[in-house]
Amino acid sequence: MGRYFLFCACLVAAWSTESYASPGSQANEITDALYDLLQSQGGSTGGGDNGGGEAASFSAFKADISTPVIQTECVICHISGGVAGNSDLLYKQQDEAGYEQHNYDVLKAFITKKAGNGDVLLANTRGELGHEGGNLFSPPDAEYSDLENFVNLVESGK
Ligand code: HEC
Repeated sequence: MGRYFLFCACLVAAWSTESYASPGSQANEITDALYDLLQSQGGSTGGGDNGGGEAASFSAFKADISTPVIQTECVICHISGGVAGNSDLLYKQQDEAGYEQHNYDVLKAFITKKAGNGDVLLANTRGELGHEGGNLFSPPDAEYSDLENFVNLVESGK
């Protein structure tokens, strides 16, 4: 939690410096540059190397999230044409080519899109924020800890 707040504080600091110093489109450029910087520190395949040349978050996704969480509990609604077809979380089913990479990219993009989105994901999973899918996992479920761990890896660019 401490690290998360630090991350937010850093973003807020960056944001206020930016809006103070540069109005208009320049501000967007700085936001983009900041985003690129964050990405370059833990890109989807490059950074966060865990020794095998693969991001630690992608390894964790394949080991603990893809099947027990996404395929078992989320994909039934979070799919094109599904109940959650209008959400930002649209997954591929496991019989589709490249489903792991696609689903990892979708989830990672959601988490990194906005500060606090990692918590939004976890809260929806607990059935909060009016999640129409209800409560899928809560502490102390192993799947919940695995998802929390995954969010932490993504948020720290690993
Ligand atoms: C029974 C159907 C159903 C299931 C199962 C389900 N969801 Fe959802 N979820 C929804 C609907 C419907 C929405 C709202 C979609 C919209 O924005 O129109 C939603 C929204 C969300 C959002 C907010 C998305 C956004 O764009 O802000 C998150 C995060 C989320 N779900 C996570 C999950 C996770 C993680 C799982 C699996 C562990 C899951 N959901 C399983 C139906 C479901």
